[in-house]
Amino acid sequence: MIRPIATIGDPVLQQLAREVTPEELRTPEIQAVIDDLISTLKSTTGVGLAAPQISEPLRICIVDKPLTVLVNPVVTPECDVTDISTEGCLSVPGITGPVRRHQTVHVSALDRKGKRISATWTKFRAIVLQHEVDHLDGILYVERADYTDKKPEPGPRAEKQLTPKLGAGGKKTVVVDSEKPVGGTQHFAFTFWDAGRITGLRLAPGGAIITGVWLSGMRLKKKDYPAGAVEQHVLGVEGLLVSKGDQLRIEIRIPKGKRRIVAEADLDPT
Ligand code: NI
Repeated sequence: MIRPIATIGDPVLQQLAREVTPEELRTPEIQAVIDDLISTLKSTTGVGLAAPQISEPLRICIVDKPLTVLVNPVVTPECDVTDISTEGCLSVPGITGPVRRHQTVHVSALDRKGKRISATWTKFRAIVLQHEVDHLDGILYVERADYTDKKPEPGPRAEKQLTPKLGAGGKKTVVVDSEKPVGGTQHFAFTFWDAGRITGLRLAPGGAIITGVWLSGMRLKKKDYPAGAVEQHVLGVEGLLVSKGDQLRIEIRIPKGKRRIVAEADLDPT
């Protein structure tokens, strides 16, 4: 069945999609969602589609050419090289924008029969994959598009920043803007480029409430991070050990009227 595609502004595109259990994956309901994803994508000129785009907040996406179904995909950059390409999205009709992405990524996922997929994807497929997995994290490409970051350049300088990275020997501080101007649920993600121990995590200005923390796709238990309103700064996930390539994603709720929240984290290499 061809389904309507949710467009920007729809809350389903802003939430963190949930994982599908292997038992669920076998059910006719989930298989129908996958069939609908495929039919809906085929009815468009798009090259990928994620379940939240058909209003199913599940961690399922498809990437075309060849058509691949990915359930609970986990994507890890395989090298530091990034490049900018022009992206569009069926949920953001009528516009495109420049987005910097990793050129080579590893993907681990289940296929629709529950079989493990473990593969390295490069270039176009890697870009589409990162775009689709962003949908599962409630992120639209327009939140990553940087219209000032035009010139693709390989090598370390190209790392200048859309996904903040911590590491590379010595304590580092990274600041990332929330990019969305008003209240609501937002996500921050830090990718760690070295193994280490988080020594600080701050959100400023205050008033944000941390509603979830994920480390490389695994949701941390409430006791592992601070709960409640953040008045000024939060020193919370200190001591958390991370590996190279890990991603720490923080979901926060911002009261109406707040204009801009900045997240900052420090990492000490171990
Ligand atoms: Ni999209």
